[in-house]
Amino acid sequence: MLKGRSLIDPSDFNRDEFREIFDLAHEIIENPEKFNKSCEGKILATLFYEPSTRTRFSFEAAMLRLGGKFIGFSEPNSSSAAKGENLADTIRTIECYVDIAVIRHPKEGAPNVASQYVSIPLINAGDGGHQHPTQTLTDILTIERLRGDVENKTYGFCGDLKFGRTVHSLIKFLSNYEGVKFIMISPEELRMPEYIREIIKKKNIPFEEVEKMEPYMSDLDFLYMTRVQRERFFNEEDYIRLKDRFILDKDKMRYAKKDTYILHPLPRVNEISLEVDNDPRAQYFAQAKNGMYVRMALIMKLLGIK
Ligand code: CP
Repeated sequence: MLKGRSLIDPSDFNRDEFREIFDLAHEIIENPEKFNKSCEGKILATLFYEPSTRTRFSFEAAMLRLGGKFIGFSEPNSSSAAKGENLADTIRTIECYVDIAVIRHPKEGAPNVASQYVSIPLINAGDGGHQHPTQTLTDILTIERLRGDVENKTYGFCGDLKFGRTVHSLIKFLSNYEGVKFIMISPEELRMPEYIREIIKKKNIPFEEVEKMEPYMSDLDFLYMTRVQRERFFNEEDYIRLKDRFILDKDKMRYAKKDTYILHPLPRVNEISLEVDNDPRAQYFAQAKNGMYVRMALIMKLLGIK
């Protein structure tokens, strides 16, 4: 059903299509050896115009674990972008060599534009402060593994909700499910963008926008922490003023329920103290690992491999 499609925005697939991906990801986790030749003869391109550790490595590891190969760049200046080549020409060229491509770009909408020039499946690995749909796949797989399903739960989002593309994609996805409630914790300047707030309102989802974490910790099933992103600020002073506004530490964890799980797309800077890492509710490294499995499932589905 998903063969030949691109994933640029969480709204590109319907619930049944996402279900296919998650079911396959769970199957891969249970029995990874079964899939180690699934993509033999296939090549993935990873085009990273912005830095990445998890997304790029997990896509590349995913393709290798499926028996396929990858080519790509992690530094655009090593490609002909440095000579002024436009994105459309680059992606049309890459299409000549590979079966599927992943692109991360600092400009919002760049993967969408690129997808209009090619017929191979293209995956948005993050576009500026806009969307990061494969992080959402990672997050949802993690939620399912911890709590079975995503419905009837209260989700806290904390930190930079303005530029945080991972929360934009995750909220867009969760807004299609029953019984979800959102607590959005951020400084006034880093509140959720209006277009995301409109999606939440349209779906009649209960939400609160607040500036303190502690009073809400005991209501949450999941607390999704995010980094204040230096690279999205025009002004260094604003970044310095806001960067340490929310720091989750052992003391604050005492306000949380025994089964309030802590997620974070990573990288982290200061927003989660290292002392929290040993708490069994801290699930961000499990989340990073799930990212590889769900990207294996995504690659297989977009290539039409059973
Ligand atoms: N979560 C995430 O996108 O991490 P990277 O920037 O390291 O890929």
